[in-house]
Amino acid sequence: MRTLFLALVVCVVAAGCGRRAATTVAVAELSGRVMDADGPVGAANVRLQATPHHTTTGADGYFHIPNVSDATYVTAWKEGTFIGFSRSDASPLRILLKPLPAKDDPSYKWIGPGPDDKADQNCSRCHAEIYKEWSASAHSRSATGRHFRNLYDGTSWTGKAGVGWSLLDEHPTGAGVCTSCHAPAVADDDPAQFDLRELRGTAAQGVHCDYCHKINGVGDGKIGLTHGRFNLRLLRPAEGQIFLGPLDDATRGDDAFSSFYHDSKYCASCHEGVVFGVHVYSTYSEWKESPAYKEGRQCQDCHMAPTGRMTNIAPGNGGVEREARTLGNHLLFDGDQDAMLRRCLQASVECQRSEDGVRATVRLWTEGAGHRVPTGFIDKHLILIVESEDAAGKSVALLSGPRLPSAAGKELEGRPGKLYAKLLRDFDGHSPAPFWNADPDAVDTRLAPGRNDETVFDFPPELMKVRVRVLYRRFWQEVGRSKGWPDADVSVWECTIQPADAPHSP
Ligand code: HEC
Ligand code: HEC
Ligand code: HEC
Ligand code: HEC
Ligand code: HEC
Repeated sequence: MRTLFLALVVCVVAAGCGRRAATTVAVAELSGRVMDADGPVGAANVRLQATPHHTTTGADGYFHIPNVSDATYVTAWKEGTFIGFSRSDASPLRILLKPLPAKDDPSYKWIGPGPDDKADQNCSRCHAEIYKEWSASAHSRSATGRHFRNLYDGTSWTGKAGVGWSLLDEHPTGAGVCTSCHAPAVADDDPAQFDLRELRGTAAQGVHCDYCHKINGVGDGKIGLTHGRFNLRLLRPAEGQIFLGPLDDATRGDDAFSSFYHDSKYCASCHEGVVFGVHVYSTYSEWKESPAYKEGRQCQDCHMAPTGRMTNIAPGNGGVEREARTLGNHLLFDGDQDAMLRRCLQASVECQRSEDGVRATVRLWTEGAGHRVPTGFIDKHLILIVESEDAAGKSVALLSGPRLPSAAGKELEGRPGKLYAKLLRDFDGHSPAPFWNADPDAVDTRLAPGRNDETVFDFPPELMKVRVRVLYRRFWQEVGRSKGWPDADVSVWECTIQPADAPHSP
């Protein structure tokens, strides 16, 4: 290794006076060479581990990088290789790149995320914090979540069979479709493929760590039409191990960098799906039409944004201290979904009194969402409710404006308000309907990012007080009640106003 001392001239702006003083700082430079079995590797990416300092190699495989920190390792990678590394004080400094396996080995045995799997290899042993985040996320219960299973096999919350909506009873040939996204690690010859009640072992952990970190790209299918596992290319090793991920400077030898991990396309095969002809999942295509897409903001930027708390992904187990802002969050929400929803939903109410009565104009819009709101599972919806009172506290009749449909539930049906949903009808015109038995033509009234939704409600002059509320429900009330689900409505926004002027006396 050659160590050069460069003279850097650093300009320091003296506070307050604006005159410049010149200081000379000595910066060491590291030089080394990146090789593979065939010789020098040009255009390889080199980094001082856990620092922002990086460079690329020349055609002769040599690199020079300022040794501005005391990083123990220098790392390198190129498309198609594992991350190679060397101690930074090695002399000569050589980094050897090993190729990734040429093909995926489907006989690979998944390693479970949690402590009950192989004691030395399970992810939670070393990545305890990430495991905690993932365990609290929907990905950990995608195959076994009680709501999902109740709808899948027609059970109730307490396990009674033959209650309410049931995919297995109403569309039994469609069962394998759910598995492709909800239990992507199920093997081809596993009977659970077509009946998730048979699910055993690591595949029952749903969208789990080892599955996600073997994803190496999208397949040749069309996003939305080829679901989940059928459109994800995996790279499972025949021997040894491989963890693909967003870090280009991990130094265990079995880690590999992939830029795909910070791309919305990574999420797309599971978060976009036309199922039985119905556009059930449309988050990815909604994102592609959103202002967030134009700004280059990926799903990960909002859903895996660093918490700022984690500075080491494997403390005491070989992890190095890193800047918190470089480590993603596997909980998928900042706080939780309700908190993120409340922050992003904006609303205003304006009341205008005239001789004819009171006009309430309600505006809803979103800030900081990268898709429609709600998005995801098709049954999710928002309900706007407008309640009115006269001076005696009695409800005032609506003169004109929308009323809530029956899908909003018995208590709310017919009340002044509006439903934001992709409401499905069955072929007899009844709604809500399960997506496996629905007319593909659904009216979509959900909030679109970057657009203002304005609704006008007219009341007679007696109106003295208006209360406006927005509720969020993950499932239709009628379905939840039939299943005995304990879910409560989520209150997202609320405001009560008293239109300023008293009614004009005739
Ligand atoms: C849905 C797929 C998915 C699952 C499940 C998943 N990961 Fe990740 N993981 C990712 C993505 C995508 C990133 C990159 C995040 C980013 O770009 O900010 C990532 C990043 C990482 C990193 C790099 C450091 C960091 O936090 O950014 C580690 C380590 C990691 N994951 C380990 C795990 C472990 C351990 C589990 C299970 C407990 C797990 N992952 C579950 C997709 C997944
Ligand atoms: C014996 C400890 C240990 C176990 C067990 C372990 N890891 Fe890691 N993992 C590490 C260390 C150490 C790093 C590198 C940490 C660093 O550079 O700060 C790492 C890095 C990673 C990365 C980053 C790869 C990259 O280049 O972005 C991923 C992804 C990952 N591990 C996933 C997993 C998954 C999934 C499992 C379980 C199947 C697992 N790990 C089990 C110790 C472990
Ligand atoms: C292999 C398929 C798969 C991949 C890849 C995947 N997801 Fe998911 N995701 C799911 C499934 C299935 C669920 C639903 C789990 C449940 O509740 O049953 C889910 C749930 C979620 C939720 C929770 C929604 C809620 O209301 O709680 C978020 C957020 C999410 N995913 C974001 C992402 C992001 C961001 C990525 C890409 C980094 C990603 N997912 C990659 C399959 C996947
Ligand atoms: C600009 C930030 C941003 C981007 C980009 C973004 N989201 Fe979201 N996402 C949000 C916010 C804010 C919420 C909470 C509002 C809500 O629940 O609808 C949310 C909610 C969700 C939910 C829960 C839906 C619900 O309403 O219950 C899912 C699933 C989801 N996002 C998936 C994704 C996927 C997949 C992508 C990429 C294709 C993505 N998001 C891109 C900000 C973003
Ligand atoms: C293209 C991938 C894909 C397919 C195919 C798929 N799902 Fe989903 N499913 C998802 C994703 C992603 C979510 C999470 C969206 C969210 O939470 O907003 C989800 C969420 C759900 C939920 C809500 C779970 C909860 O607890 O909130 C139910 C129920 C559900 N799916 C049922 C099914 C059934 C039944 C099938 C088979 C007919 C199926 N899904 C097929 C990707 C898929």
